[in-house]
Amino acid sequence: LATNYFPYILSRHSVRNYEQRVLDPADLARVELILRNTKSRFSGNKFSVILKSKEKGEDLVSILGAYGRFITPPYYLLPYLIGENHSLADLGYQTEQIAIQLWSKGIGSCFIGCLSRRDVVRMKFQLPPSAHVAAFLVIGYPAGDSTGFELFTRAAKTVMGIRNRLAVEEICFMDSFEQPCKPDGKWENVIEAARMSPSAVNAQPWRFLLHNDVCYFFAVQDQRKYLLPENKDYSLHDSGICMANMDMALTSLGIKGNWTFLDGLMDVNIPHPEKYYPFARLILNQTGE
Ligand SMILES: Cc1cc2nc3c(=O)[nH]c(=O)nc-3n(C[C@H](O)[C@H](O)[C@H](O)COP(=O)(O)O)c2cc1C
Repeated sequence: LATNYFPYILSRHSVRNYEQRVLDPADLARVELILRNTKSRFSGNKFSVILKSKEKGEDLVSILGAYGRFITPPYYLLPYLIGENHSLADLGYQTEQIAIQLWSKGIGSCFIGCLSRRDVVRMKFQLPPSAHVAAFLVIGYPAGDSTGFELFTRAAKTVMGIRNRLAVEEICFMDSFEQPCKPDGKWENVIEAARMSPSAVNAQPWRFLLHNDVCYFFAVQDQRKYLLPENKDYSLHDSGICMANMDMALTSLGIKGNWTFLDGLMDVNIPHPEKYYPFARLILNQTGE
């Protein structure tokens, strides 16, 4: 049953301009199935998603913040999670599975972060104070023509470089952070899937250190990237997104991997910048299923 999501991981981009029509019934049924079938890597958490269609005349600014002015999706999702086991990472991990699966069915999406408004959002959607929320996912059919905000962001992206991502040598290192590397072999596609992950303010808070057959995943915790101090936790949420892309790539490519969460502690003595938080360790152990 496993679908090859690798091409979709590479081609997905945020959609900010939507067709103003509802989803076909078959697609809506697919969405509902996708929402129910995400996987967690973290035991003890309960992940749920609220699916809302935009009411006629509904003011999305009160829900999505300033972006509600520019983005008018026919639907939006609010993923939330109850549980304390790497909560934000798990939220990102499961929401990205949704984004990629929707993209593979021709449905576009864009994360709209709400960490700094989380209390308001919880209240608005009558969620308990223990519910973790980090971002909405707006969804719908991408509009064929690029106008307005979409055109503006695309043009900005083109100016800033293709797909607006750090080069692989800026995020991947071999044995020490003094040795940038361009991974090959089985790591190449897994790191590429990681590199293409979406992140809040496109901060790309992930760094990889390859050491023998092990990949150490660091979450960059650089508050300056996120404007508001309460937004620094996007780093963990987006590391969860990135992990989902790596996992979906592994499954698609028939590679088996074992993850261990490091919770800030390394099992080998490799010096790393203070802002790089040891997040997880991935060991690839088998190829070709
Ligand atoms: C947690 C999170 C919050 C985001 N919030 C916003 C947002 O408020 N407005 C917006 O236009 N894009 C938002 N984005 C989308 C990012 O800007 C986008 O993923 C990044 O620039 C990379 O571009 P791409 O998704 O097209 O590959 C967010 C992404 C994430 C993961």
